[in-house]
Amino acid sequence: MNSTPNAPAPAKLMPHLGLKGRNTFGLDAVADLAYEITAPEQIAAVMNQITEQNLPWRVLGGGSNVILPKVLPGVTLLMNITEQEIISSEQNATVISVGGGVNWHEFVVWTLENNLPGLENLALIPGTVGAAPIQNIGAYGVEIADYIDSIHAFDTKTNTFVTLAKEDCQFAYRDSYFKKHPQRFIVTNVIFNIPKVWQAKIHYADLAKQFEGNPNPTAEEIFLAVCKIRTLKLPDPKVIGNAGSFFQNPIIPNEQYETLLKKYAGLVSYPDAPGKRKLAAGWMIDQCGFKGQRMGEVGVYENQALVLVNHGNGTAQDILGLAKCIQDKVRKEFGVSLEIEPNIL
Ligand code: EPU
Repeated sequence: MNSTPNAPAPAKLMPHLGLKGRNTFGLDAVADLAYEITAPEQIAAVMNQITEQNLPWRVLGGGSNVILPKVLPGVTLLMNITEQEIISSEQNATVISVGGGVNWHEFVVWTLENNLPGLENLALIPGTVGAAPIQNIGAYGVEIADYIDSIHAFDTKTNTFVTLAKEDCQFAYRDSYFKKHPQRFIVTNVIFNIPKVWQAKIHYADLAKQFEGNPNPTAEEIFLAVCKIRTLKLPDPKVIGNAGSFFQNPIIPNEQYETLLKKYAGLVSYPDAPGKRKLAAGWMIDQCGFKGQRMGEVGVYENQALVLVNHGNGTAQDILGLAKCIQDKVRKEFGVSLEIEPNIL
């Protein structure tokens, strides 16, 4: 026997695995060869098989930001590393290592239960901890990047484990180095840095409205308010399939924004980088009359026009067809291109 006593068992293989329950859009999809990854050490062997047999492959986390085809050929890695550990707790900050397979919302709840506030604005975002940095999840004025120390990942280019410091992750609005280099890194653990000094962030209009008359809410109060707003505005994937915001909020030059504003006095937008303005795509889609509309098995959510929904038996093709109608109309009306947010596999 030449196996190391403490080496983890090889990744569990699940051939022809149905993924309908593993993607929040509820799309019917089958993975040819699915491997459940419960320890980082299992990745190298699976990658070897992929290279040797020249198989297509992809990683699936919580399946909350993907549009799946009917068949996923080759290998699908289901990330389920769930170890979690406080690495250090010093005067200024607490550093925590969290396995990529941990459910994001459950981690947020855990931080609050352990008196580590900071992530409360990001409550109820579906998906896993490992997937969260790829698109730099954000809500109500907070982004995960604000709390990241570094990322542990398997680099498929060099076949080694690497640690990327926050600065190397190139985080930006719904963007990162990982997103710019798809198919290169497999995130195994996210290392968080939660500062000990905490300040409420309630400047986003929806949240500010909840705290009129209470300018100093606790992290728990913010958590509950965020859960309340999200529950009202965003559909629960367990009830109706969706992937959250379907389009990014487009960022345009100030001059273009000024011109648009003359035509549309109600245009909703936010300041962005100098000389730029971020437009609320949901508002534009709403103005085009799509909110609550249905096109066969798919549609636009009735309470948030930025969210596309699957009424039951929709396919990737149906969703992308509806997305194209929306993109065309918004481009015609506002002269702005909308970029699809979820990954199309
Ligand atoms: N609006 C409309 N009609 C709509 C939808 C929105 O008029 O149907 C207007 C709203 O009234 C509001 C503005 O558009 O004035 C913005 O809407 P909202 O506050 O709901 O936020 P968003 O810009 O649509 C973004 C994120 C969400 C995040 C919220 C809160 C993106 C692509 N989406 O949505 O993230 O929860 O802000 O911070 O940046 C996600 O990425 O999956 C997601 C849900």
